[in-house]
Amino acid sequence: MTEQTIPTIQIKDAPQYVGQTVKIGAWLRNKRGSGKMAFLQLRDGTAFFQAVVAKADVSEELFETAKELKQESSMYVTGVINQDERSKFGYEMKVSDIQVIGESHDYPITPKEHGTEFLFDERHLYLRHIKPFATLKIRNTLIAATYEFFNNEGFIKLDAPLLTGSAPEGTTELFETDYFGQDAYLSQTGQLYAEAGAMAFSKVFTFGPAFRAEKSKTRRHLTEFWMIEPEMAFFDQEASLELQERYVAFLIEKVLERNEQELDLLGRDKDLLKSYTQLPFPRVSYDDAIKLLQDNDFDVEWGVDFGSPEETFLANHFSKPVFIMNFPKAIKAFYMKRHPECEDVVVSADLLAPEGYGEIIGGSERDTDYDYLKQRIEEEGQSLEDYNWYLDLRKFGSVPHSGFGLGLERMVTFVTGEEHIREAIPFPRMTHRLRP
Ligand code: 4AD
Ligand code: MG
Repeated sequence: MTEQTIPTIQIKDAPQYVGQTVKIGAWLRNKRGSGKMAFLQLRDGTAFFQAVVAKADVSEELFETAKELKQESSMYVTGVINQDERSKFGYEMKVSDIQVIGESHDYPITPKEHGTEFLFDERHLYLRHIKPFATLKIRNTLIAATYEFFNNEGFIKLDAPLLTGSAPEGTTELFETDYFGQDAYLSQTGQLYAEAGAMAFSKVFTFGPAFRAEKSKTRRHLTEFWMIEPEMAFFDQEASLELQERYVAFLIEKVLERNEQELDLLGRDKDLLKSYTQLPFPRVSYDDAIKLLQDNDFDVEWGVDFGSPEETFLANHFSKPVFIMNFPKAIKAFYMKRHPECEDVVVSADLLAPEGYGEIIGGSERDTDYDYLKQRIEEEGQSLEDYNWYLDLRKFGSVPHSGFGLGLERMVTFVTGEEHIREAIPFPRMTHRLRP
């Protein structure tokens, strides 16, 4: 075969080329060898496999080149694809040629164990390794499935600004910045803009970064995270909860369908994930959740917000994602609708994931009363000037509406089974981490 007729392929497509000579652009992950053989562990961003160089089959020079290759050097390898029952991938290459493209010397992430801090200092390189590869491919599926789901449901994507003058989720966790002499904040939520969008397009969703100057160092908090915020005109809370369940089940189903390889690489239990797609999700009122916690020796009283131990207990108790409904007004955002029967409570729900992954969704029906919202904004010590445009939405044809926010990285940790939220985003931002 001449050089021109050799197809250039990606590793993931190797199964279609058994018995054929192909060329693949790849990086070297690791290497083993003896005097007669060199086994190159390769990756190309689509999959991982092994290329075998036999001294007997190639020139002495090529065999030397193969033996000298260093971790993360890049190359074109040419050879025949064979089936290989012993490897996970099931296919390997018998190499006939190697063209080195980029050398690599003293690559810092060696095959030995490294500490997490070190790996995240080297995140720009660590992205190439198996765990980040699998986790971030699943993240990508969640993003793609989000667009599919909401497009199918007749939503339009509405882009909210990231520089804002409002702080709807409270003023304690704000990143402030100077905007040509005015105070501005990095957006905590796109919700208020989504509400304006829902009055224009009926059903919208925003998807973008959210910024919160969370000082607490937990395995569930980032200072910059990505949030999907659907907002629906003429939806009451019941209709919103039903949509939330179907959305979460859809996300899990798509990952099970498209990321079997990645779930296996991460050792995630697929049957367990499948069990989370059975609807409906259980629903418990905040009041009953408090009683349940008290009966199980938690030191909590009506009015407190749940911490991580409480959330973990509640979701594990139901062994499914569970909605905690109707929280005390005092611990929730100003825009949430007052409960018709109980003025201390709002028509809200948090969706808690099982296995300790915490709150994946926060949402509510929105209050529609102009005077009430005005008073609540003032009570929060915020300036009405920044919210006049929002209050306009209640002046001109206000309708009942509801919405929610799903934290993408929380969802990624839940689906992948990752312990820490820093794994769920390419370049995490936390109190102590701004680089790389
Ligand atoms: O519950 P939150 O604060 O709700 C809102 O921002 C509303 N405006 C949403 C809405 O109704 N449109 O945040 C929503 C979700 C949480 O349930 C959680 O999954 C995630 O965003 N989240 C975080 N994820 C990572 N790091 C943080 N610091 C997060 N804060 C919230
Ligand atoms: Mg919340």
